[in-house]
Amino acid sequence: MKKVRKAIIPAAGYGTRFLPETKAIAKEMLPIVDKPTIQFIVEEAHKSGIDQVCVVTGRGKRSIEDHFDSAPELEAELATKGKDKMLQEVQAINDDQLYFIRQTHMRGLGDAILTAKDFIGDEPFAVLLGDDVMQDEIPLTKQLIDCYEDTQASTLAVMKVPHEEVNKYGVINPTKEVKDGLYEVSNFVEKPDPEEAPSDLAIIGRYVLSPEIFQALEQTPYGRGNELQLTDAIDLLNKKQKVYAHLFNGNRYDVGYKFGLIKTNIEFGLQHEDVKNDLQNYIIDLAEKLKKEDK
Ligand code: G1P
Repeated sequence: MKKVRKAIIPAAGYGTRFLPETKAIAKEMLPIVDKPTIQFIVEEAHKSGIDQVCVVTGRGKRSIEDHFDSAPELEAELATKGKDKMLQEVQAINDDQLYFIRQTHMRGLGDAILTAKDFIGDEPFAVLLGDDVMQDEIPLTKQLIDCYEDTQASTLAVMKVPHEEVNKYGVINPTKEVKDGLYEVSNFVEKPDPEEAPSDLAIIGRYVLSPEIFQALEQTPYGRGNELQLTDAIDLLNKKQKVYAHLFNGNRYDVGYKFGLIKTNIEFGLQHEDVKNDLQNYIIDLAEKLKKEDK
């Protein structure tokens, strides 16, 4: 059995929802307190046992590469000043197993995955989307790898979302719960209208896929928004070999839109040693002030 050793992180999008901030800065570098969102995603891959990660980037994304490179002047400065803890933290990010491919055109998530075909070769791999930051005792990607090792079949993560929001996601049509939280699926639909959605179970940006997905992607016509949709290719793959859906029970933070990023910063701030006390006091004071103003 081939092990899941590789992952793809697509990061080529323009980040238009965060303009003007993202005019010159990659949206993947937006911080959650003091760490860029993409670092959480790379860390999840490594904690799940994946050593080789390929980030699919595009124009204006160079800061991502710099972030995971060594920074000799900075490291020397921190060493001289005896800031050992910070030095360790900075050095821990340096990553020799990170690969970068540039996507020279924007033709959708499916196309971004196809860009990394040669990097993956003939083995199963994970896909982690950067807009979803996950928290659970066992990292979600590891949960999917465990499912893969069990069933030898591609598996993606789903979560129940409010019915009126299904049109923001790929949605599954579950047919049978084969074991606790693991579903067989009859079809996968990209961003259906709520009236036509087969369920409220949405795909949440984590996948473990067999290499046959690449043939499926090559055979899939351009879909919604005239983009090559990964969901459409998964639907095609599922007709040839099973693709399971695994229900995620942990916390999902959607950092792909303004309010989501702000909420995530507050929640992670409340867990962060440096700011949690001040932030908590501030929130309590602010809530009281807003209540008074409301009266
Ligand atoms: C993508 C996928 C969609 C999935 C979503 C999860 O959409 O196409 O199937 O449900 O990520 O975040 P996007 O959010 O890039 O439009």
